[in-house]
Amino acid sequence: MMSDAVVNELSAELLREMQIDSAEYDSNELIDLFIAEMEKGLAGHKSSLPMIPAYVGVKGSVPHEEPVIVVDAGGTNLRVCLVTFDASGAPQVSNFTKVPMPGTQGELSADEFYATLVDLIEPLADQSERIGFCFSYPAEIQPDLGGRLLHWTKEVRVPELVGQCLAKGLTLALKKRDLGEKQVVILNDTVACLLAGRAEGEKLGSESFVGFILGTGTNTAYVEKNANITKIDGLSGASQVINVESGSFGSCPRGPLDIKLDKQSDNPGGHVFEKMISGVYLGKLALELAQAAAKRGMLSESAAEVILQMEELPWIDVNYFIPAPHADDNVFAQKAFSTSDRDVLAALFMGIVDRAALLTAVNISAAIIKSGSGLSPEKPVCVNIDGSTYYKTYMLAETVQERLTAILAPRGIHYTCVHVDDAPIVGAAIAGLTAF
Ligand code: BGC
Repeated sequence: MMSDAVVNELSAELLREMQIDSAEYDSNELIDLFIAEMEKGLAGHKSSLPMIPAYVGVKGSVPHEEPVIVVDAGGTNLRVCLVTFDASGAPQVSNFTKVPMPGTQGELSADEFYATLVDLIEPLADQSERIGFCFSYPAEIQPDLGGRLLHWTKEVRVPELVGQCLAKGLTLALKKRDLGEKQVVILNDTVACLLAGRAEGEKLGSESFVGFILGTGTNTAYVEKNANITKIDGLSGASQVINVESGSFGSCPRGPLDIKLDKQSDNPGGHVFEKMISGVYLGKLALELAQAAAKRGMLSESAAEVILQMEELPWIDVNYFIPAPHADDNVFAQKAFSTSDRDVLAALFMGIVDRAALLTAVNISAAIIKSGSGLSPEKPVCVNIDGSTYYKTYMLAETVQERLTAILAPRGIHYTCVHVDDAPIVGAAIAGLTAF
């Protein structure tokens, strides 16, 4: 059996070599690189960050007692429901239906995609003329709030839709079914998340807001001054929400396994930052790392044999495993895995979590700093954080919070993190009710 010191030394060496050790990354340097890419994106120069204006602001009030249909096309599920803000302003969600996100279970045509949406909307069609459509993929938003799909992420396959306007497509598909003329507002899920956090933030004095999601995919929205969005002339109003598409940040150093995973993905070269921190990729990275450990003799022969034959390792299983590697009901509870094997694997997986936490904190900090707000404790920037990977990954949220304090406190920047239930749905309802 290997001693704890040997286990730690071997895993640290492998993590360093694979550029997964968080000590290999300098937060402040990365934040500067992040902000430089944000600025280039806002100016319309070549940048890995598209910085997409959402044409949505953070002023005005939300009408009460008026229903709106919400479509939420997420990374894993498609959800449709009706939302009404009651007399006290609390969102009431009803008539909720959920199916797997079309295109996640085999390739579909655009007609098949819209048919699934319309099937779910049909029973609610006579309840509202407005639809807030939360879309968790990169889409360029036009001033009329239609959205043109730039490309898919999260391994979704409906190739025909790329380049098409989603609001137009959905409106047409609804008309074809005789369901009337609807006003469809497309917004990114992080923009929805930001809007959903506004009420909470305002109670705490916030004047600026961030929406951050770390789930199947990852992304950030924040509020930017229109004067800084120099790639577009004649924007009306003082500021608006920007969809950063932070998952595509391209200046973060990557290791050999990150590069390998990217090459094997559906969009090689795209969204490379997302592939280092988000749920759809972390399980794949954990398996690659375990297989690298097996190949260099860090695991027993029997464990190596099992690991090298594994085809997938769900991230959720890794998260049950890390805090209790010796439990008899985890993913490596077979006889083939010795006590040392389990210790090595737990230490390696913890390295993946630590790096994801550091990069997440860098990403959130860059948005807070770029907003230029939070300079007084009475007006903290409100960050609404959503996503299963953020909340369900072992020790991730705690580590991100520690790192945020370490990065932002010395800079004198004040922020507050909140969590709003069903944020994408609530935010899409706000946009659907207020946008026109
Ligand atoms: C998409 C973003 C989305 C994020 C979180 C990414 O893959 O490109 O548009 O906001 O996932 O769902």
